[in-house]
Amino acid sequence: MTARKKKAAAKDFSTVAVEDLSMAQAEAELERLAKAIVKHDLAYHAKDAPLIADADYDALKRRNDAIEKRFPLLTRTDSPSKKVGAPAAAGFAKVRHAVPMLSLDNAFAEDDLREFVARVRRFLSLPDDAPLAYSAEPKIDGLSISLLYENGVFTKGATRGDGEEGEDVTANLRTIKEIPAKLQGKAPAAIEVRGEIYMTRADFLRMNQEQEKAGDKVFANPRNAAAGAVRQLDPTITAKRPLRFFAYTIGRYEGPAIETQAELIRRLGEWGFATNPETRSCADADALLAFYEHIGAKRASLPYDIDGVVYKVDRFDLQRRLGFVARSPRWAIAHKFPAERAQTKLLKIDVQVGRTGALTPVAILEPVNVGGVMVARATLHNEDEIARKDAREGDTVVIQRAGDVIPQIVEVVADKAHDKRPRFQPFEFCPICGSKAVRPEGEVVRRCTGGLACDAQVVERLRHFAMRTAFDIEGLGEKNVEELHSLGWLKRPGDVFRLKDHAAALAKRDGWGEKSVEKLLAAIEARRNVPLDRFIFALGIRQVGEATGRLLAQHYETLEKWRAAMIAVAKGDEAAHAELLAIDQVGEALVADIAAFFAEKHNLEALDDLAEFVTPIPLEKPRTDSPVAGKTIVFTGTLVKMSRDEAKARAQSMGAKVAGSVSKKTDLVVAGPGAGSKLADAQKHGVEVIDEDAWLKLAGLA
Ligand code: IVH
Repeated sequence: MTARKKKAAAKDFSTVAVEDLSMAQAEAELERLAKAIVKHDLAYHAKDAPLIADADYDALKRRNDAIEKRFPLLTRTDSPSKKVGAPAAAGFAKVRHAVPMLSLDNAFAEDDLREFVARVRRFLSLPDDAPLAYSAEPKIDGLSISLLYENGVFTKGATRGDGEEGEDVTANLRTIKEIPAKLQGKAPAAIEVRGEIYMTRADFLRMNQEQEKAGDKVFANPRNAAAGAVRQLDPTITAKRPLRFFAYTIGRYEGPAIETQAELIRRLGEWGFATNPETRSCADADALLAFYEHIGAKRASLPYDIDGVVYKVDRFDLQRRLGFVARSPRWAIAHKFPAERAQTKLLKIDVQVGRTGALTPVAILEPVNVGGVMVARATLHNEDEIARKDAREGDTVVIQRAGDVIPQIVEVVADKAHDKRPRFQPFEFCPICGSKAVRPEGEVVRRCTGGLACDAQVVERLRHFAMRTAFDIEGLGEKNVEELHSLGWLKRPGDVFRLKDHAAALAKRDGWGEKSVEKLLAAIEARRNVPLDRFIFALGIRQVGEATGRLLAQHYETLEKWRAAMIAVAKGDEAAHAELLAIDQVGEALVADIAAFFAEKHNLEALDDLAEFVTPIPLEKPRTDSPVAGKTIVFTGTLVKMSRDEAKARAQSMGAKVAGSVSKKTDLVVAGPGAGSKLADAQKHGVEVIDEDAWLKLAGLA
């Protein structure tokens, strides 16, 4: 039993089976459940930010009903069983975006911005004196949405979702005045208009006052209110919310060519959309910074919340050349405003053990409102950070939050008692499994050495495995994973597919029942084929996030090939190492983490065990109809008309692999002036060699 669980057990009776509850205990439980369910209703419907999985929420409701059935006289006047409301699981149809809805990279400081501008120029091989215009726009803190117009008529509207697939909220969007039902003027055959749904601060405050008067839920901030309103199952509720829309980009487009962002913004206005009147054209980094200062000074007086500004390369042809890195465009960046701050008391320094075993100190705070959101915890990053700030339990601290980022402690507020408080002592042992926690020399992070033997890591790994962006198994949230793990039924990912052996026993457990077991098993069976990128991401290898999972899946194509290559990397095979490193975005640190994973016997066993049950689906190849599709290309020497990065990205988007060194597997070497040993290698292996001009022709750029 974890410390957390022990503490809870002393206060409530949530672990006592319904049949075993005394009357007094049942009364206490009904009170606890009523409060918890209200809290989760609010989080889900009002804040649009559920705190627990739908299945776990259902379990709370079921337990409440079961207790009421046994003790009908204890049914509370405010019982959750009496409320009729929208069901917890929203029933929107899914919409696959024709063009993915990506996110933006962030710049926080002037240097980040200058680096962005320099990077763009480098990538395009633009001399310093060649003009390069940017569109600078406020970054609205709302909800991004995609609106499809076919022959000028609004036909489908979708939320961003995970960027690939969103929810069909067409009916709700039709109630928003600023979303035209028909485009004005000459409409293109098809256009997907994208932009931000938001609420002005004044409308938000007015609406909240009305909600409060009527005894309805109030919202934490305009963003949450807007997001909640768009995701209503009942469009008549959306219609009552004061929602607005700014258009700022497009996805799919079939119509006369549009050359620049400035032209697009103009056209969007002509078609009848509101576009942000603060949008400006800027010629260089200094102009962008001036825009940032200008909007920053105006921020408080703008009628809506913004969290920064967005800079975009104005010309679309250059945007196309710049392309994307993983999930964000190379041609745009968000320049964020400094975060909002507040003071509160640091009650305790706790430690969290992450799924990779990292011990992260966490500040437990006296809850405080920071920019509309209650904050009770903040990260302290690592023990060096605590030492640097000399944060001690009992201190008053300044905390800040920025957007979705976890709140942080900025500094300790000096007071007389500070010196008398004991200094923070690093944890020598893992608080979960008691294994030694070590901090390798030169590293900042302390780690538990318990691995899969550490409950924190196993549960976290399995939860990660089942999460929405990985295997996406509904019903395997943290609580259920914890329960199934404590029963000894879940130790590693493959065990998920063995759960059916325990179906009967599981159905008898409190809070389950045959229906929910059936549902869970069906959700599991549906995952015997998952896309390879999700499979890779689900393994929980350090630093291998969704984007990296995708890059690996695209490059290696099948599980077998990827597995063999990674084992080779772990064994020190140089060619395999070089191939991995040659993938866009893959650096030495990531290679080291992947190698460490594959060097561990139990990790490979767990992977193979999982592969017994699952056949991953290869990703769709980027292109197969290009002259270089499927070929391995090596670039060497100096390229004059485009940078190496651009050449590499272009080749990859045309379905080619780009390698760092020439071998007999290489199909083509593109050699510029100054090519050295690689050219010699090419001749040795009889590989075709072309110059830059020939490459540009091949790439369709000349
Ligand atoms: S352009 C390829 N322009 O910021 C990315 N986004 O962090 C296209 N946002 O998901 C987005 N104002 O919800 C763009 N003027 C603006 C924006 C803006 C707000 C949001 C949008 C996006 C997020 C990215």
